[in-house]
Amino acid sequence: MNDPAVRHIKVAPSILSADLLNLGGQVRQVVDAGADLLHLDIMDGHFVPNLTFGPALAKALKQFGIPLDIHLMVSNPDWGIEAFAPYADYLTVHAEATPHLDRMLRLIREKGCKSGVSLNPSTSPEVLKYVMENVDLVLVMAVNPGWGGQCFIPAMLPKIEEVRRLVSDSGLPVEISVDGGISASNARAVVDRGASILVAGSYIFSSEDIPSAIQALRRCTITDC
Ligand code: DX5
Ligand code: ZN
Repeated sequence: MNDPAVRHIKVAPSILSADLLNLGGQVRQVVDAGADLLHLDIMDGHFVPNLTFGPALAKALKQFGIPLDIHLMVSNPDWGIEAFAPYADYLTVHAEATPHLDRMLRLIREKGCKSGVSLNPSTSPEVLKYVMENVDLVLVMAVNPGWGGQCFIPAMLPKIEEVRRLVSDSGLPVEISVDGGISASNARAVVDRGASILVAGSYIFSSEDIPSAIQALRRCTITDC
């Protein structure tokens, strides 16, 4: 089951690093290149010191027909769930952003979305044990959230394994996604530890050849590179 050659690894380009003046064209390229999900980073200037997109963009992106993987980096995410659920396939909140994680996860499912919980690099995966039955996706942050283009934190590799063990012990079909500093040089290591979704921003969008960058991520999950 953990052999990447027999698992379908999903690639989720993060448009945070896209050329915003040519956003439609860039999204079209990743969709045509076979991206599985489109990752949309929502920042509120409070949970993280940056601001990004609102629900109007999520609504507009629906026209591409690709599932939206919406990553809420916002404090007390009740409002974000209400605002983005109509457009989200996966909707992810941070464990650190709310004292009511269990309620947030249930609310996401009530809204008809798949529920995600994200963990900052310094957050222990322990919290997952108590909410797993309401989780469809765990988003392991491999950088401190707030910006694209940061370096992958190597200590997140054993953490991905820990998350995979907790998911296996639960017997539930929970996806493990890894976000931050993903490139062709670490994709294989991340997938070998248990990731089933790779989120990548700057690696894909700063490439001269976006379809090749997506293919390189996929290739690295099935061959050594
Ligand atoms: C960081 C965001 C990421 C970001 C990843 O806070 O959650 O999704 O776009 O960008 P790269 O792949 O450049 O690290
Ligand atoms: Zn993200």
